[in-house]
Amino acid sequence: MNGRVKIFTYGCQMNDLDSQKLYSELAKKGFLPTEETKDADVIVINTCSVRQKAYEKAISNLGRLKAHKRVKPSLIIAITGCVAQQEGEGLRERMPHIDIVLGTHQLHRLPDLVNRVHRHSLPVAETAFSDCIPFLDTIPGAAFSNQPHRAYINIMQGCDNYCSYCIVPYVRGREISRDYRKILDEVRLHARRGVKEIFLLGQNVNSYQGGMAFPELLRHIHGIEGIERIRFTTSHPKDVSDDLIACFRDMEKLCSHIHLPFQSGSDKVLKAMNRHYTHRSYLDLIARLRDARPDMAFSADVMVGFPDERDVDFRDTLDILESVRFDVLYSFKYSVRPGTAAAELGDNIPVEDKVERLRVLQAMQKKITIENNRRRIGGTYAVLVDGNSQKNSEQIYGRTSHNAIVNFTGATALIGEIVSVKITRANPNSLTGEIS
Ligand code: 5AD
Ligand code: SF4
Repeated sequence: MNGRVKIFTYGCQMNDLDSQKLYSELAKKGFLPTEETKDADVIVINTCSVRQKAYEKAISNLGRLKAHKRVKPSLIIAITGCVAQQEGEGLRERMPHIDIVLGTHQLHRLPDLVNRVHRHSLPVAETAFSDCIPFLDTIPGAAFSNQPHRAYINIMQGCDNYCSYCIVPYVRGREISRDYRKILDEVRLHARRGVKEIFLLGQNVNSYQGGMAFPELLRHIHGIEGIERIRFTTSHPKDVSDDLIACFRDMEKLCSHIHLPFQSGSDKVLKAMNRHYTHRSYLDLIARLRDARPDMAFSADVMVGFPDERDVDFRDTLDILESVRFDVLYSFKYSVRPGTAAAELGDNIPVEDKVERLRVLQAMQKKITIENNRRRIGGTYAVLVDGNSQKNSEQIYGRTSHNAIVNFTGATALIGEIVSVKITRANPNSLTGEIS
């Protein structure tokens, strides 16, 4: 069968990469991407269920597709990823217009299942977990990468941490690390394709164990010619080893940024979250990272309104913001995820309190971000150019090693190059500069 495919992606960078891979694998079987939902013969909803909101978005999009299917009965609708894993066959019972339900360990089967549904129009739901995830080893064709100069690479999937609020271990499964030889081969392939920046992905990259530990993997990648920048996400504070900190001291290609979710600044809440660190040890970790790499930039995830979070607990969270002074902070209202340990605790913080705490926290962070940005004015930074600015056609934009976004006047030909840029202005979420 030939046709057109459209994939809607929800959630994290991991899902973005999975969608790239799905486009690439489907293209091998004759399905080419389309931007237009109405032109699609196959629609994939690649979902996230980490927070209630992400789950609801995916479900409501699925609901809307019912009308498309009525107009075009041959349309094949697949739901993949975390929501598919969580709900399984039950999704088809609620929404019979879905043809394929594919869990997080089964994505490699999508092209064959699309053909099977096309031939026999028999719906399928495949959500088994397995010891190996073939899709981890799938490499998207160069044409399907969103940015030819940057490659995202899965190094592991799943999580063994069981933070009490988190659904990931249930929907992505236990940690499975990819063999280091396959990862290094993939990095070399990207280097040959002209990729400059390698971005390693996993739910908990620093507990990687695919034949070597994570810092060792970083050192091997560091030695590969052509690669100029290395980033990774996400890290759990409890797994940031001395050896990983040493990497920031020793490896110039390792970017000066780490995403280090702290979730709460209250020891009581952290304990109930099963996070295995304290307010103090988190700040100590930040200090050790700054010691190894003085210009290190930090980003993090945090949530408000976890069960029994009192004002004093919230103040401890604000204290972390003030002490660390993150460049970027992703903040969320706690939402109950079915089946998690925290679901047993009830959801006893009124929504108005969650909204108010989030407002206070975001206002404080906004100030910190702009102050951090202002401090960069006058400085000169190496910027890897990502693309043309959407707001101003004469401008291009890229990222510093600290992961700050910089807009500046420059030629489209510079996309994919690393250029030296002097910062002239600080904006709320980005910087403006000029080539120096
Ligand atoms: N409620 C709110 N936020 C959550 N996150 C994970 N689970 C929940 C939940 N139940 C947030 C955490 C995590 C990010 C990916 O999503 O901050 O780091
Ligand atoms: Fe979820 Fe915690 Fe694992 Fe992160 S470390 S994926 S928050 S269980």
